[in-house]
Amino acid sequence: MLSELGLSFILSAGILSTIRTKGMSDKVKIDKIFEHTKTWIVTEKGNKKKPVFIRKEEIGDTGTKYVYRLPLGLPSKLLKKLNENIGIFKDGLHKNVEVEFDGGMLHINVYEEDLPAKWDYNELIPKLKEGSWNIPVGKTFKGLIYHDFDKIPHSVVGGTTRYGKTVYLKGLITSLILSNPNDAEFYIVDLKRKLEFNRYENLKQVINVAGTPDEALEMLSDLHIRMESMMDYFRKNGFNNIVQTPIKKRMFVIIDEANRLVPENSKDKVRISIKRHLEDIACVMGGLGVRLIFCTQYPVATTLPRDVKQNSDAKVSFRLQNKYASEVVLGEENSHAAELPDIQGRCIAIHGSNLLEMQTPLITDEQMTELLSPYVENGRIEQIEEHKHSDDVIQIRNVE
Ligand SMILES: Nc1ncnc2c1ncn2[C@@H]1O[C@H](COP(=O)(O)OP(=O)(O)OP(=O)(O)O)[C@@H](O)[C@H]1O
Ligand SMILES: [Mg+2]
Repeated sequence: MLSELGLSFILSAGILSTIRTKGMSDKVKIDKIFEHTKTWIVTEKGNKKKPVFIRKEEIGDTGTKYVYRLPLGLPSKLLKKLNENIGIFKDGLHKNVEVEFDGGMLHINVYEEDLPAKWDYNELIPKLKEGSWNIPVGKTFKGLIYHDFDKIPHSVVGGTTRYGKTVYLKGLITSLILSNPNDAEFYIVDLKRKLEFNRYENLKQVINVAGTPDEALEMLSDLHIRMESMMDYFRKNGFNNIVQTPIKKRMFVIIDEANRLVPENSKDKVRISIKRHLEDIACVMGGLGVRLIFCTQYPVATTLPRDVKQNSDAKVSFRLQNKYASEVVLGEENSHAAELPDIQGRCIAIHGSNLLEMQTPLITDEQMTELLSPYVENGRIEQIEEHKHSDDVIQIRNVE
């Protein structure tokens, strides 16, 4: 029986200097860090059960994985702590370190080289797969990682100004369109008065780009009505998730500058309604095929609705100004986004339980415009505008 858990990460400078002993192998340093951080379980008899070293493996050309078996009963909550305190490993080893959990095993991955400071979006194109919603999103120490939008529908993106949020969104939109030109649909809210996304309004996959809160509310209300008819179809056919249906369409609601949607006061009816719509999307519409990507510059609790955060299993954070902002996006006691190097496109990605440092691809507007040029429908905007002013305001598209 296990009676007590020791897992503490309060390291004094003295302890770190002990770990920084010259000539020690990485394996010995890791063991020392476990020792100093009390990564063990104390049994009723007072015995310490520590992670047991199993083996060492190479990861590509520049990494080494140290595999440990964990003592039974070490709860995942405390394992999360290891990730939250990854800085201790990085400082102790003077290398890049990732912690992962796999099948009850703890992996400490140690990398000799840093991530690239920049890489071009064109490099990613050969990795896109037709018809797949599993999209490559960035380079980690282990290589390219993917986000499967059918498994993790919603994501939150945070980051201080000029570190790469909008470029990340543009890369995602391009990848989603290139892999699913007939099935990806976008509802974009660009509160920089459409400065960033205006030029993509003519793409056949872009249903609408809203540049003001009023336009955003109209757009989200349209989507809501469309989803009501989708819900009826689901009910009639006994479906509860789009992945079980023959429907291939996926609707992406992309909010850039979400911080500008925060209700200013209780009379701010438009923003309050928008917030409700976003919560509704996060809580209910994932199953119907709607995927929310909620992007904010100033992550404070008021700019990130609780339901949106809780239902977003993917979190991406570029550099943030402080620990508090990092915790709002990445979770309690997770200050990694405040500790990122000063590199545009560098971020922390959390997918489910994995936390990884990632460099996103750089895509320019010229590249995006060229890649998506086959999908430009000239005159489409005018048609939508005319349509809006006719009696039939709602653009419900056929779902099948
Ligand atoms: N992945 C990347 N690799 C290299 N440079 C990048 C990358 N992403 C962004 N940049 C550089 O950073 C600049 C700002 O990026 P971006 O517009 O995406 O920032 P942002 O976070 O959206 O800022 P804001 O909050 O002010 O809108 C880009 O113009 C580009 O030069
Ligand atoms: Mg931006």
